[in-house]
Amino acid sequence: MLLSWRVFTLQGFATNLRKTPMNQRVDVPAAAIDFNDEDSNTSSNPTFGAVLTARLSRRGLLRGSVGTVGTAMLAGFGVSACGGGDDPVPVPAEKLLGFAAVPKSLADMVSVPAGYTASVLFALGDPILAGATAYRNDGTDTDFDKRAGDHHDGMEWFGLGADGKRSDTAIERGLLAINHEATTDEKLSSFFIHADGGTSTLPRPALEVDKEVALHGVAVIEVTRTAGKWGYVPQSGLNFRLTALTPIDIAGPARGHAQLVTKYAPTGTQTRGTLNNCGTGKTPWGSFLTGEENWAGYFMRSASDDAARGNDKSVAALKRYGRSQGAASRHGWETGGSADHYQRWNNGKTGTSVDGSDDYRNEMNGMGYIVEIDAYDKTRVAKKRTALGRFAHESAAFGKVVAGQPLTVYMGDDSRGEYIYKFVSTALWNAADANAADRMAVGDKYLDSGKLYVAKFNADGTGQWVELAMSNPAVAGYGAYKFSDAGDIAINTRLAADAVGATKMDRPEWNAVNPANGEIYFTLTNNSNRSIDPTGSQYLPDGANPRAYTDMKGSTKQSGNPNGHLVRMKEGAGQAFAWDVYLFGAEAVADKGMINLSALTAEQDFSSPDGLVFSKSTGICWIQTDDGAFTDVSNCMMLAALPGSVGDGGKKTLAYTKADGSKLEVNTYVGKAATPDTLKRFLVGPKGCEITGLTETPDGKAIFVNIQHPGESTKMSDIGDPAKYQSQWPANAGYGAGKRPRSATIVITKNDGGRIGS
Ligand code: FEO
Ligand code: CA
Ligand code: CA
Repeated sequence: MLLSWRVFTLQGFATNLRKTPMNQRVDVPAAAIDFNDEDSNTSSNPTFGAVLTARLSRRGLLRGSVGTVGTAMLAGFGVSACGGGDDPVPVPAEKLLGFAAVPKSLADMVSVPAGYTASVLFALGDPILAGATAYRNDGTDTDFDKRAGDHHDGMEWFGLGADGKRSDTAIERGLLAINHEATTDEKLSSFFIHADGGTSTLPRPALEVDKEVALHGVAVIEVTRTAGKWGYVPQSGLNFRLTALTPIDIAGPARGHAQLVTKYAPTGTQTRGTLNNCGTGKTPWGSFLTGEENWAGYFMRSASDDAARGNDKSVAALKRYGRSQGAASRHGWETGGSADHYQRWNNGKTGTSVDGSDDYRNEMNGMGYIVEIDAYDKTRVAKKRTALGRFAHESAAFGKVVAGQPLTVYMGDDSRGEYIYKFVSTALWNAADANAADRMAVGDKYLDSGKLYVAKFNADGTGQWVELAMSNPAVAGYGAYKFSDAGDIAINTRLAADAVGATKMDRPEWNAVNPANGEIYFTLTNNSNRSIDPTGSQYLPDGANPRAYTDMKGSTKQSGNPNGHLVRMKEGAGQAFAWDVYLFGAEAVADKGMINLSALTAEQDFSSPDGLVFSKSTGICWIQTDDGAFTDVSNCMMLAALPGSVGDGGKKTLAYTKADGSKLEVNTYVGKAATPDTLKRFLVGPKGCEITGLTETPDGKAIFVNIQHPGESTKMSDIGDPAKYQSQWPANAGYGAGKRPRSATIVITKNDGGRIGS
């Protein structure tokens, strides 16, 4: 979701419904209402303003960085970031980033470079299972559990051989596992899935709630290239959906935990649904990982729930995850009816049991995980891998896979001031597991037991991973929350990370591991809470999050770090790492001394990086944006990058003058400035969308990209007049019925048959 000021209808969604004035409309900052920008880190954890003067040498850690851009890329092709028989194909001689940069654009279309073709493949509502009819796209369609969901997000490719089974070399037939993150907010704009734009008052009609619940989750669809043209297979027996109601097992240290006991699952071993699925990952054994991101906003708590709980420790936990008592739910699903599957969205203590087996006081603890799904086998129950922690998950990227070594998974928590994590498996990698028949059993082996760490960034370009475990006295002795066991840490990971003083980051979105050298890249999309004169919930800039400035969007001031940046990390000895800032988002015309620190040109400038994927075929780092700061100049976009390595740039000191006239110096480390050969805009999307999710065929000759929520700023009152829609994409590209905008997957090919990005 982009950050902007919006009109919010208070009616029906405030805490005390009976006392709320009807139809009262007020302007409130998006920060107060944006369910995709939850902000509950009130810990006093360092932003290392206190250590700004540290001047330790970082050369030791940085020494040994892998080569230059070109050689690093080529050197990497023998190395698979994911292993598992999924190695890249050999690289022919070709010039990467040889295309002409795509200009910034406000047009309602997908723009790609000359010589490339982008085609719509799979849009909201497209039928995938028997019984679903062709999508009418007029708000009357139902059966969304048999159709494409909404808000396509992260996505992974799973190749299929002629026998319909897994093939890691297939390039013309495969499965796409696609996250359907969310749907548009009825309180904010027009709800295109409902005929009249949807009901923005409570109670919500059951029919509307049922549609909305079903269009969340994940779709797995078969896609094929036939006679040179890609399409999805509407009736494939391999297609399936998970929704926000699908039964899913709880796995790992939180399985059976007292905090997961619900009326539905008194043993705490199962829950229903996966929710707000954002970033993705693919395991070395060929299963799909999906991250549950902004799930907290879907749950309601009554204004008196703290007392109902006896002010037990769950109150602190709920608050830390953005659900203070009195919190309204994003869509009011709990008002759909008295049936259990509506009442589950009321996260209050409404029952009388001691253990929570007669209500849904613990229901929210079943969301917020990395979920493993066997994309090849719809009969397998998905598993929430709780050992990887519970927070606003984005992607899950594996570090280099080495036989006999543990597996490492990197993850970020996307809210303002949240943290960066990694999981290290107890089990050592056995290459034979890459092709095991029972993929979920391999997941049990590697993802249910291990150590979870959080990142502390030092001001000198170094950092440490700190283990979150009862054996860590800072966790076991934490004053603000009394941890009971490993399951408690798995469920309340943010609190454990607070306890050890993790570094608050500028909203960690996706991360990806460079296959050339194993370095880890994180997009830090933006953060309105950075300030050189912090008040309230704001905090100072620091080395890894060094910018606090003002950017104008028309006449609107945007403060903090409105354009975001990408930090990258290189593992060192023990749990040490080195870091630098690979790229800073900025307008090309912005001050190169304080804002446009990467010296971006008009062919490269971007804002709010979000999606991030390294091609295993070409080594290109694809950077996607979900922006609201630069959208007066351009719709969201995707850039192709050929990064170097940590330490290839230099130290930079940002000299700020505070309001009282005093000086504040922040040292950071900036990666080597981009050139036309190392960073170039490749795609610009239609109006009101974000670009997110990318996967490719193993030969790198087709990439699949998601266009999420085009036209999302369309006003509710304009639902009847297509001419007033912010976007009519993909209908205006010739795809499907009606004119309502739809999230969709596109496929991009090169007209000469070459690899994408060449
Ligand atoms: Fe779903 Fe943080 O983006
Ligand atoms: Ca601007
Ligand atoms: Ca995202």
